[in-house]
This record gives sequence, C-alpha cells and structure tokens, in this order.
Amino acid sequence: MSLQDDIAQLRSTLTTAIAAAVDEQTLDNVRVMALGKKGSVSALLATLGTMAPEDRKTAGPAINGLKNEIAAAIEARSGDLKGAALNARLAAETVDVTLPVRPAPTTQGRIHPISQVWDEITAIFSDMGFKIAEGPDIETDWYNFTALNFPEGHPAREMHDTFFLQPGADGTRKVLRTHTSPVQIRVMKQSNEKPAAGYLTPPMTPPIRVVMPGRTYRHDSDQTHTPMFHQVEGLVIDKDSHIGQLRWVLEEFLKAFFEVPGVTLRFRPSFFPFTEPSMEVDVQCDRSGSEVKIGEGSDWLEILGCGMVHPNVLRNCGLDPDVYQGFAWGMGIDRLAMLKYGMNDLRAFFDADKRWLDHYGFRAFDMPTLFGGLSS
Ligand code: DAH
Repeated sequence: MSLQDDIAQLRSTLTTAIAAAVDEQTLDNVRVMALGKKGSVSALLATLGTMAPEDRKTAGPAINGLKNEIAAAIEARSGDLKGAALNARLAAETVDVTLPVRPAPTTQGRIHPISQVWDEITAIFSDMGFKIAEGPDIETDWYNFTALNFPEGHPAREMHDTFFLQPGADGTRKVLRTHTSPVQIRVMKQSNEKPAAGYLTPPMTPPIRVVMPGRTYRHDSDQTHTPMFHQVEGLVIDKDSHIGQLRWVLEEFLKAFFEVPGVTLRFRPSFFPFTEPSMEVDVQCDRSGSEVKIGEGSDWLEILGCGMVHPNVLRNCGLDPDVYQGFAWGMGIDRLAMLKYGMNDLRAFFDADKRWLDHYGFRAFDMPTLFGGLSS
C-alpha cells in the first residue's frame, strides 16, 4: 500500500472515531490513539526518519498535514461536546426567577409566648428600676418553706403539691421549688452574707428592688395547670416601704403589661405564711366576649398574691424587722400570657406543636421594650 493510501485510511478511521466520540473522555482516547507517543499518526511520522531525502520531501508535508487535520478535528469536536454539555446543564438546572424568595431561618423561627411574656415582664420592671435575680430550681426545704415562715408540719406546706427528691446522705429531701418565693430568701440573705453557691446575681443590699422570674413545679395537671409552670416574684425592701407603694407598682405594671391606659384593682384579704397582711389581687375585666379584656367591664379576675413581708421572714434572712420592712408579690407568667394573648389551654404551651407556635409565637428580633412597644 502506498503512503497516500495509508494516510487516506487513517484519516477516514480517525475522522469517524472523532465524530463518534460522545464525550470528552472518549474523544481524548481517540487523541491518544492518534497523536499520543504510540499513536498511529505519530508512528507514521516516525517513518520519516528512515526515508530517503527525496521521498521525505513529499511525505513530510503529507503526514504533518494529516496530523494537523486530526488535531483540528479533535479540537472542533471538543468544542462541540463542551457546548452540548453546557446546554444540557442549562436545560436541567433552570431557576424559576418568578418564585418568591424563601424566608431566612431568622424570619421563620418563633419565640415562645412564655419567653415573650417573661421578657415583657422583666422589661417593664427594669424600666421601673428593678433588678432581676434568679435562683435554683432544686431547693432545700428550708429555702422553699421554713425560711418563708411555713411552720414544720403546718398544713400550708400541703397547699403546694410538692415534688420531693430522693433523700440525700443526711436524710433530708430536696424539693423542686413550688414557687419563686425562695429566691426572695436568697436575695435577702445574700444582702448581708458572703455569697454562697447557687447565686446567679451579684449581692444586693437594701433598698432592694428585685423581680425574680423562674420555673416552678407542682403535682398538678389540667387545662390551667401543668406540673412545670412559671412565676415571677417581686420584692421591695427598704426602711419605709408601704402598701401604697405596692399598690402603685402593681397598677403601673399591669397597665404597661396589658397595654391599656388604666386598670382597676381589688385587694382581698388572704393568707400566705410569708406575708402579713396577705392579699390577693383581682383586676377588673370584661369577660362577656370570647376574649378577656383587661381595663374595662364589670368582672374580676384573680391575678396575683402579695403582702407585706412577714417579720419572721426578714429575721430568717438576717434583716432587722425593726429597721427594714418590705412588700412582695408573686404571679403566674403562663397565666398572664394566656390572659394577654387569648390562649385558653395551658397544656398547649408545652406540646411543642409547630403550628401552635407559628400562630402564637413572636418574631425573634421584636424584642419587647417599653419605648419600642411590648408586643408590637
Ligand atoms: N408564692 C405564692 C404562691 O406561689 C405567691 C405569692 C403570694 C408570692 C404572696 C408572694 C406573695 O411574694 O407576697 O402561691
């Protein structure tokens, strides 16, 4: 066979192979087969060295011509394949620019109504000059009861359906605190003692103005009671604190909290071991519609317990009742949340139902402040 024939055959085989290559990898195999070190075109080029100079004159340009032709064909096919691959991707990965933007997680997540109301309450009292204190959920019997003037074996201890922990080495049983009142004891005791373990706040000395939100526990469960619930405790200790101030503080708080211009309160005599006198406070409201409206109407709704701090309690905390006096109150955060936001089953608060939270929850960046609006 003549060189011309060899070239023609090689051209035809390679051109067919190039045209048949369906992807870059197959095309590269063809390139190696033809132009690689051991490729067919390279082999042909190698024969030039053994040729007579006369023959080489015509064979050289012919073989090099084939080489260039094949290289160009591979190049062109590669361009086509790249273009086709890109078109396929563009067809597969379309973006519908008319779709609405998906909201960011920060705009989708919701703050639980309890956290919201907790923040609203602390914002209002902070604005009135109160500090915030917290104490442990697991309390000793002394802090939860004895120091608060609950006598040993007194039926008032039974009023709270207490969760007791297993007895410790010394035989005493700790409790899950049944109210936030033991934090009062911690704050007052700390005001004249070296800080003990369990404190989360720096010492306060009289005049003390403090609110103490926290989790509380009682063996109770129905539509308006859950075994874990939340309270906020308030305490003011000074040399001349009096009931008039208590009344003013509560009125100002309830107006701000319910975001109404005025509230009417009714103080009923009651009993708590740690206050004397003790009172329960009702707020005037309208219950004729489906929602409770505070600040209008002719019904009364019990909202909190309060009183003047019992001298025994001051004494138990190392404060002289002949020098200091004060007032305290306690209220349910969950109950306040239910009233303000019209949620009627407390158990739903703890169901972790996303649909409920989407409906009743609050936006993460709407921090309650008095100047920016509490619940806007
Ligand atoms: N600790 C009481 C309770 O859980 C509520 C309470 C009543 C707190 C009167 C007080 C108070 O500080 O003065 O039922």
